Amino acid sequence: MEERRLGPVVGLGTWDTVGDDAELARVVVGAALDAGIQLVDSSPMYGGAERSLGAALDRRRAEATVATKIWSPSLEEGRMQFARQVEWFGRVDVEQVHNLVAWQEHLSWLEAEREAGQIGRIGVTHYDSAAFDELGRALQMRQFETVQVPLNPVERECEERILPLTEELGVAVIVMRPLGKGALVHRRPSPEALESLRDFGVETWPQALLKWVLSDERVDVAIPGTRDAEHARENAAAGEPPWFGPEERRLVERLAGD
Ligand SMILES: NC(=O)c1ccc[n+]([C@@H]2O[C@H](COP(=O)([O-])OP(=O)(O)OC[C@H]3O[C@@H](n4cnc5c(N)ncnc54)[C@H](OP(=O)(O)O)[C@@H]3O)[C@@H](O)[C@H]2O)c1
Repeated sequence: MEERRLGPVVGLGTWDTVGDDAELARVVVGAALDAGIQLVDSSPMYGGAERSLGAALDRRRAEATVATKIWSPSLEEGRMQFARQVEWFGRVDVEQVHNLVAWQEHLSWLEAEREAGQIGRIGVTHYDSAAFDELGRALQMRQFETVQVPLNPVERECEERILPLTEELGVAVIVMRPLGKGALVHRRPSPEALESLRDFGVETWPQALLKWVLSDERVDVAIPGTRDAEHARENAAAGEPPWFGPEERRLVERLAGD
């Protein structure tokens, strides 16, 4: 097994962003890599995003950690998804069981592929806190090395129900929806309200939200999704220390709730 930590870093999500638009993917992924983003997250569920991501990485594959998913109740279809991923990415660095679908069934072949060197780490994801009991049980099996859950100032269930477990078990944490699916960036606090965060390298509200996520020491990667190269560059800048302390985190929580 590889070392636990993946971060703290900002990655790039691809749900409902580049889709099958290979040219858009090339622009966004290129901007993200140039800005220092190294981890990209995808899934067979994301409407062609894996294929366009693979094409966008092309000669830059070695610069990226590719996290993607297996999403099927059928073992046969799961293995076909994996075969396509190997075609597009060469190797899958983080292979996640999407939304816990048939996780017990998929584990043994995923472990064999990891043993063969085609997979780096095996992970599991769920977007809904209603599934956190089952997610916790899956982690307790000690077969998953990463978990992906939502976390942002208004969606914090994983703090009590999943993160204590990841800390205890040494599981790396990837955070989906760090910007609340975009809803949180629409309420833009004034520049004056963010003044005290400037010493932490924060210039913009999305950066404040991303730094809030990464300042929880139990979190490794925040993966904001974007189809905008400028947003990718802006987000990348939040992946550097210094990290927030409790006071700065409380300020962001207050501003997100206003
Ligand atoms: N949503 C889920 O339930 C879910 C489930 C499983 C996995 N994931 C993974 O987690 C990733 C992140 O979740 P998400 O994409 O649903 O939500 P998110 O990252 O919280 O928010 C994405 C939204 O934020 C906007 N955005 C990103 N950076 C911005 C910036 N700097 N300034 C202004 N707006 C910005 C994007 O619009 P622009 O395109 O205009 O930048 C997009 O509308 C997904 O892409 C996927 O890889 C998500």
